[in-house]
Amino acid sequence: MLMNRVETALINSPPRRWVQRWYETPLLLRMGGPLDEGARALEIGCGSGYGVQLILERFGAGRVDAIDLDPAMVTRARRRLARYRGRVRVGVADATDLTGLVPRDGTYDAVFDNGIIHHIPEWRKAVAEVARVLRPGGLFYFGEVTAHALARPSYRLLFDHPEHDRFTGRRFLDVLDDHGLTVRASRELVFGDFVLGVAQKSVPRDRPGAASERQP
Ligand SMILES: C[S@@+](CC[C@H](N)C(=O)[O-])C[C@H]1O[C@@H](n2cnc3c(N)ncnc32)[C@H](O)[C@@H]1O
Repeated sequence: MLMNRVETALINSPPRRWVQRWYETPLLLRMGGPLDEGARALEIGCGSGYGVQLILERFGAGRVDAIDLDPAMVTRARRRLARYRGRVRVGVADATDLTGLVPRDGTYDAVFDNGIIHHIPEWRKAVAEVARVLRPGGLFYFGEVTAHALARPSYRLLFDHPEHDRFTGRRFLDVLDDHGLTVRASRELVFGDFVLGVAQKSVPRDRPGAASERQP
């Protein structure tokens, strides 16, 4: 589900950017560490592309693919990210089915979700796609809005979100685990309104070199 005008303004506001740069990014870096040199990352629901800048500059990705369902957001992201030409690709896609853009399983070293999965009615499908496109040992950095926040009168009045089958922080972490994404660190924030963390795609035990996979 796309953002309405109020949420678009809030998400792209300086205070939100400040929190993302100076609070969420350092917290996620403490939980999962920076990426290896040359790492390939995907951001789902990239909005206007500010998160991609952080993935390149703060997390140290070598290349980033970014998608959003909203063509207007993709246009804004392409404009913002033009200076990273050659390292960034931005396209319109649905996070619940990335097979057109990412046909090969295990393509990415890291996937980023900056507050998008709670926008998706069939959100488990998006989690399944994250798990599919991550390589074994790859990291999923997430920051999500929970049912707790979405039930608040202020949220219901100001923003548009799917209403059924929303998740608590605990439920979200359990569903990651169901998809082979082992949560390495997580934190609930603002009385359970938000959940941030890092999960790692499990490595098949019989895979050669599995024992030496990087731990965050
Ligand atoms: C709350 S915004 C977050 C945007 C960006 N990650 C940020 O932090 O600025 C949620 C974004 O998810 C996008 N979105 C919603 N449903 C989507 C889906 N099924 N697939 C991809 N993007 C989706 C919306 O268009 C919107 O840009």
